[in-house]
Amino acid sequence: MSNVEELEQSATQEIASATSTAELRDIEIKYLGKSGHFTNLLKQIGAQPADQRKEFGQKVNDAKARVSTLLEDRSASLRSHERLAQYERERIDVTLPGMPVRMGVEHVLQQATNKIKDVFTGLGFRYMESPDIEDFHYNFEALNYPPDHPAMDDQDTFYVSDDLLLRTQGTALQGRVYEMIQRGEMTLPIRVFTVARCYRNEAVDRTHGHTFHQVDAFMIDEGISMADLKGTLGLFATAMFGDEASVRFRPDFFPFVEPGVDYAISTPKLFAGKWVELGGAGMIHPNILENYGIDPERWTGFAFGLGVERIPMMAYGVDDLRNFLENDHRFLEQFPG
Ligand code: FA5
Repeated sequence: MSNVEELEQSATQEIASATSTAELRDIEIKYLGKSGHFTNLLKQIGAQPADQRKEFGQKVNDAKARVSTLLEDRSASLRSHERLAQYERERIDVTLPGMPVRMGVEHVLQQATNKIKDVFTGLGFRYMESPDIEDFHYNFEALNYPPDHPAMDDQDTFYVSDDLLLRTQGTALQGRVYEMIQRGEMTLPIRVFTVARCYRNEAVDRTHGHTFHQVDAFMIDEGISMADLKGTLGLFATAMFGDEASVRFRPDFFPFVEPGVDYAISTPKLFAGKWVELGGAGMIHPNILENYGIDPERWTGFAFGLGVERIPMMAYGVDDLRNFLENDHRFLEQFPG
């Protein structure tokens, strides 16, 4: 293709019928590139008669400039079309209803724990924690369990080694607190409570888990008696279950209390007047106080422990404690707090 007019005409047509900027780039290379048609044409300048070379060069360059301008214009217009098409593809209908956001709720056991903490803190108890992986010593020995006592069988658990186990009861905090008193890090009188995740090697059923939670509290002062225990548990019961809640004690055995009781709660509204057992309690065994150098003639104390799961089970009629650990949203969402 050597004729300048023909070349310009065909370039013009191709540019006009190009449908994408990619196509335009190919056309540009084809006509204006290093070995494009116009470049080749310019190379023929030497073959022209000497007096026509200038005019020939001028003609080719003018045509080249026009083609170049056409390319730019067409490219700009195609680019804006392509952008529009892209906008169209990405168009968002802002009037569509939104995707519902899943809001989490505090776990029902955490809600119960928060309430428990409020109540005991309000009664002047200090919140403390002890490790989940506990020394055999603090979980049993320090709590007046004689070696090989059958009471330990009720609380079989998972052992990490001979001396380390997964805590079976929140009461394991006691020995650690007494040692703090011995070291002068705390002084009597004391009121302490904990909320502890506990573990037992249980035959799991609706009311027994291998993993569960206990509130455990104890208080030591001069002149503390079972009446203080009953009063404190009564306050706790009314705070958790309403003003009409009352507390019943029945004798029970725990090595670390003397006397020991289990206690049940009743409220006319929640459980049709039936007694529902919550946990164990009693007066701290004088052996324990003596072992830690606390004079049991001067100081006495009470202690109690109860299952946290029992509280929402009673309050909301949950009949299987396994629900609490399964993380099924359909269950958890029923307790928005
Ligand atoms: C104790 O664990 C004593 N430490 C309580 C105590 C503290 C007594 C201070 C005296 C003085 P018991 O093993 O009964 O006692 O457990 C207390 C409560 O924990 C039970 O009433 C129950 O509510 C809860 N609990 C015990 N085992 C399980 C389990 N496997 N699953 C769920 N809850 C449990």
